Amino acid sequence: MHLKILVTAGDGIGPEVTNEAVSVLKEVANIGGHTLELDAKRIGGIAITTDGTPLPVDTLAAALDSDAVLLGAVGGNEFNSLPPDKRPEAGLLQIRSALGGFANLRPAFAFKELAVNSPLRPEIIDGADILFVRELLGGLYFGQPREWNKATNEAWNTMRYTKAEVVRVARIAFQLAQKRRKKLCSVDKANVLEVSQLWRAAVIEVAAEFPDVALEHQYVDAMAMHIMNRPKDFDVVLTENLFGDILSDEAGVITGSLGMLPSATIGGKVNLYEPIHGSAPDIAGKGLANPLGAILTGALILRHSAGLEAEAAAIETSVRKVLEQGFRTPDLARTNPQGFTVLSTTEMGAKVRETVKTMLVNA
Ligand code: IPM
Ligand code: MN
Repeated sequence: MHLKILVTAGDGIGPEVTNEAVSVLKEVANIGGHTLELDAKRIGGIAITTDGTPLPVDTLAAALDSDAVLLGAVGGNEFNSLPPDKRPEAGLLQIRSALGGFANLRPAFAFKELAVNSPLRPEIIDGADILFVRELLGGLYFGQPREWNKATNEAWNTMRYTKAEVVRVARIAFQLAQKRRKKLCSVDKANVLEVSQLWRAAVIEVAAEFPDVALEHQYVDAMAMHIMNRPKDFDVVLTENLFGDILSDEAGVITGSLGMLPSATIGGKVNLYEPIHGSAPDIAGKGLANPLGAILTGALILRHSAGLEAEAAAIETSVRKVLEQGFRTPDLARTNPQGFTVLSTTEMGAKVRETVKTMLVNA
């Protein structure tokens, strides 16, 4: 197997965590006799500083010419006063839209070993396993018109969806549910918003193609509460763009740390892979960042872009084993460092690498 991956590490902790993800991927590829063709390009704040734009043309060209893009994180405090279209985040939105992936898969599952990190009681989260399917190219993030009119002191954004945009992402969510526990919860605000009424009607129409999947609808405000009260009741959760952004961060509470959550964006020309956590400028460059979200994102590359399911699962099992052995990055040992071995970013990466090597060589 030959896989061409573009790494856009970005800002803050992005370079540190993607380095670890890449070294785990290299190890797995070596053992299986697969070749990885890796290239690196700038995106986000680092690109603004160096190239004057958050998404340089050569980054986009290289991205379109690869099998998968692994993105670290974008954003930094020095850019906070810039208008939205000049910020590092604009580079991320541009590459998402150019690559065309509209279904952003965000798995959130409870690691038993990290239950102690969650403010939720273990019996609430134990066994929770949710797959968010967040629509990524529509809604308030991209809808026109949008403006902050400084003269009139008014600002507006537009939450807009076409039926076709809802149908295509709903189909992917139903297909994923078929391979899981066959439950789909569609999130909207159909008691208030027309766009949500269209959303719900389109999802109901698609449901007819998937009679084996049980469909329910929840309003987003109620859903925010249900995820905390009874996360185990949910399997696949389908949301529009902003609702999914918010609910997936909230679901970090189930996992114990936002630093654990990977994502994969599929359905377009080139799949885009990014951990859910941000650039965390406060801890960048100190070896404190948790690379496990990025490493698990690497596993998703193998699963969705290379068809290497066994290798993807081996990485996921290795992460679990390393946690079982009591190894933690500082974010996973904040309230209870006793009894754990606290590792730096690179040490944690090395632990996963050794573990996955042992697993695959002995398989
Ligand atoms: C995410 C992030 C991004 C988003 C930002 C950085 C633009 O929060 O991937 O969840 O809002 O989509
Ligand atoms: Mn987010």
